Amino acid sequence: FRTLDNLDPRGKRVLLRADLNVPVKDGRITDRTRIERLTPTIRELAEKGGRVIVCSHFDRPKGKRVPEMSLRPMAEALSEALGRPVSFVDDCIGPEAEAAAAAMRDGDVILLENTRYHAGEEKNDPELAKGLAKLADAYVNDAFSAAHRAHASTEGVAKLLPAYAGRLMQAELEALDAALGNPSRPVVAIVGGAKVSTKLDLLGNLSSRVDVLVIGGAMANTFLAAQGHSVGKSLQEAEMHDTARQILEEAKGNNCEILLPIDLVVAAAFAANVPTRTVGIDAVPADMMALDVGPDTVAAIEGRLRQASTLVWNGPLGAFETPPFDTATVAVAQSVAALTQSAGLKSIAGGGDTVSALKHAGVADRMTYVSAAGGAFLEWLEGKTLPGVAALE
Ligand code: 3PG
Repeated sequence: FRTLDNLDPRGKRVLLRADLNVPVKDGRITDRTRIERLTPTIRELAEKGGRVIVCSHFDRPKGKRVPEMSLRPMAEALSEALGRPVSFVDDCIGPEAEAAAAAMRDGDVILLENTRYHAGEEKNDPELAKGLAKLADAYVNDAFSAAHRAHASTEGVAKLLPAYAGRLMQAELEALDAALGNPSRPVVAIVGGAKVSTKLDLLGNLSSRVDVLVIGGAMANTFLAAQGHSVGKSLQEAEMHDTARQILEEAKGNNCEILLPIDLVVAAAFAANVPTRTVGIDAVPADMMALDVGPDTVAAIEGRLRQASTLVWNGPLGAFETPPFDTATVAVAQSVAALTQSAGLKSIAGGGDTVSALKHAGVADRMTYVSAAGGAFLEWLEGKTLPGVAALE
């Protein structure tokens, strides 16, 4: 794919697909990571004399002008992050947007209203794509985190204009390629989370690509139960036992070692700071539930990590939002950070919960790369082609 290295934006109107779908609570932005990561691309384009027309979706207004889902407040946030003015246009296509684009001077930045105010966005309607293409001379996609959507602003328009990957898109793709495309081995993957059923494709794809697959979180209970261990009151998916056994079988065939918990931290109820016990996987009391993996498991994971050259991580090992069930996740996150800083481990992490867990452990900035994507990162781990990326190729 072509990057900003292949584009001379001087005097050109550049339509920049950003992902400004940032978390907002009571009208305030609670996490500016996506905005901050977007600024290098905007700054580079503007400094080179481009006229930058930013567009994005925000939330899921389903084709209606839902006022709380306006991108208007984001113009100010962008302007603050960039240190340059960003004006706002009330629609992403049509006469007003066209007039605003035509009036731009070199280095100007404007932000268009939510693309999802038009039903055509999610339908990948060619008319909406044409309306967007009409505004610009070139298209830059910096929204890796929305690239799993084949929408008018991520896919349709890319086919109508000369299309390039922005710096954030480029960084995401390079990091993911280093993790799974062409990694230095051994590769360890850590996968956690509640349900096997939502991560079937991911587990299948990873077990054919990595050398060690660590399974933690509540989904590990399903695997342990499938192997005949009794898991007490632990969260698990009884209907997934056959599938879990199949995944283990396939991994064996692929020479992928699956590391399941050896010990568990159990409690009678799921609540903060309840009394806990650490037990072997064969000693989970019938009236208790597993909420974290235990210290022997952490040690086993750390042993694999010391041998590893690359780590890809998605999903916490325990119920990390509720202490003390953050213990294993925090311990492993700190080991990963230390190995990344001192032993050259390439650590790539992503997915909403994973990023929160790394932040909670205080090490999000000590990984090799933390993806700003949620769903798109998962689909990449599943081995799927992302339409927004494919359209750049
Ligand atoms: C995300 O936040 O993961 C992306 O912006 C995609 O949002 P969506 O799930 O509403 O398509």
